Order: sequence, then structure tokens, then C-alpha cells
Amino acid sequence: MGGGDIVYRLGDQKAGKSPSWSLSPDPELVEGELFVADDKWGPLTFMKLVHKAFYGGLKKMEKQAASLVEAPSKVTLRKLKVTWDMMALLHEEHSVHEDKVLYPYFESFFPGVTATAQHEHEGHHEQLQAIGALFEGFEKANGDEKTSLAVKIQSALADYSAVLTEHMLMEENHLNPLARKHMPIVMHIEALRKVYEVTSPATWVKLLPFILESQELYGYRVRTLRCLRWAMPERMQQIGRHVYQGVELPLWKRLIVDVPEMVPRGLGGCKILGRPGWERYY
Ligand SMILES: [Fe+2]
Ligand SMILES: [Fe+2]
Repeated sequence: MGGGDIVYRLGDQKAGKSPSWSLSPDPELVEGELFVADDKWGPLTFMKLVHKAFYGGLKKMEKQAASLVEAPSKVTLRKLKVTWDMMALLHEEHSVHEDKVLYPYFESFFPGVTATAQHEHEGHHEQLQAIGALFEGFEKANGDEKTSLAVKIQSALADYSAVLTEHMLMEENHLNPLARKHMPIVMHIEALRKVYEVTSPATWVKLLPFILESQELYGYRVRTLRCLRWAMPERMQQIGRHVYQGVELPLWKRLIVDVPEMVPRGLGGCKILGRPGWERYY
């Protein structure tokens, strides 16, 4: 049923009342979305969705840093260090995506508009180095030194979290809307394709699963992949391979229902059985 068809309010149908009041598209009514605005998104929403991964990662590190302070050991350090290494890698790559790809687009519309953000990126780089040095110190330290270094790491990560969160909110509130308002969709697609090319496939294999696992809502994960699908549909099986190698199997199985283009060809997808995938090799 398309827009403009006469539909009944569900309560009226049950009560056997006659149609009286509405000219509405049926699906929105049935799904309770009639008064919910469509959210606006495009390929470059990818950048904001990477921020969502940072927010999730920062929360995880906060808990892991508290465990390290409570019991400074190789085990608690290892857990925090694994997350930190991925966060630092993601941060460096994301900054490159912004400095080398996204910001030049913004600058071409409004020269000087990204100066503050670029300056902040330099500060972040120094912060990343300093925290990396604290981790190295912890690994070499012993006894009481470990306890005091654990506290220092926790405090440095808290500062980092505050600085990065403020920076991301600034970008989301003041820079990202420029793309939405001023850049045509062709430029969004062009920019995201460049972002993908700037980072090596070997790094995406690590980063993409980390991004998806760190995002706190399933909807963010699907949308992240759909942004990539929008900009480069021809690469979706390649991206699927990056994802498959790094995420837990239940998440992979769920994601291929919503983004079936990630499934390799020839695996016998079947709409009737609800099995996502391609029936043909080419
Ligand atoms: Fe940034
Ligand atoms: Fe950013």
C-alpha cells in the first residue's frame, strides 16, 4: 500500500468502526513510526559513527584502568593495553582521514574553518605518545612503582578521554554539519572512497572489527557498513572479509542479514530460507 491510501487507525479496525480520518502510508502507521522523523544520513556519516566507536572504547578503558589500579598486574595491564593499542591506532588513522581528506573539503568551502581542529590533532598526537610511554614504563617497573604508574595511567587516560570527547563533540556540532549542508552526495561518496584508500587493507582488517565491536548500539554497526556500501558497493565483499576476520561469529551472522552484500559469492543465498548471500559467482 503506498502513500495516500486510506487506512484505518488500528483501534478503529478492531472496534469495527468505519474509516474516517487518515490519509497515511500504512507501514509507518503499523510500525509506530508515523510521527518519528527520518534521520538524515549519508556516506560521510561514517565519520561520526567512528566517533561512536571512540565513545565505547573510552568507557571500556575507564573500567579496565580502574581494574589496573585495583590490582596492578600483567593480566590487568594486558587487557587495558590491548584496548589502548587499538584506540591509539584508530585515533591516528581517524586524524589522518580528517587532516588529509575531510578537512580539505571543508576548507574548500570555508577557508580556515578547520584550523582549531587541526591544532587540536597535534595536541592529541603528543598525548598519545605520552600515554604510550607510561605503558612502557609500567612494563619495566616492579613493586610499588607499578602501583604509582597504574594511578598515573588511569589519570592520563581520564584526561585523554575528556580532551577527545570535547574535540569530537566540537566536530559533530560545528564541522560535520558542513558536509551535510554544503557537500553534494557525489562529494560525500568521493570523500569516503578516499578515506578508505588512505588506510592500508592490513590496518582496516584490524580497525573495522574494532570499530564495530566498540560501538554500543547494533544500529550504529549496520549503518557504518551501509555508509561504506553506499560509497563503494563494489568493495563490500572485501569489507566483509575484513569484518569476518575480526568480529565474533554471532555478530557476523547478524550483520550479514542487514548487509548481505558482505557475504562471499557462491555461498547459496536463499530469500525463502532467510539465508543471506549470493546465488551466483559473478
Ligand atoms: Fe578530529
Ligand atoms: Fe573526528
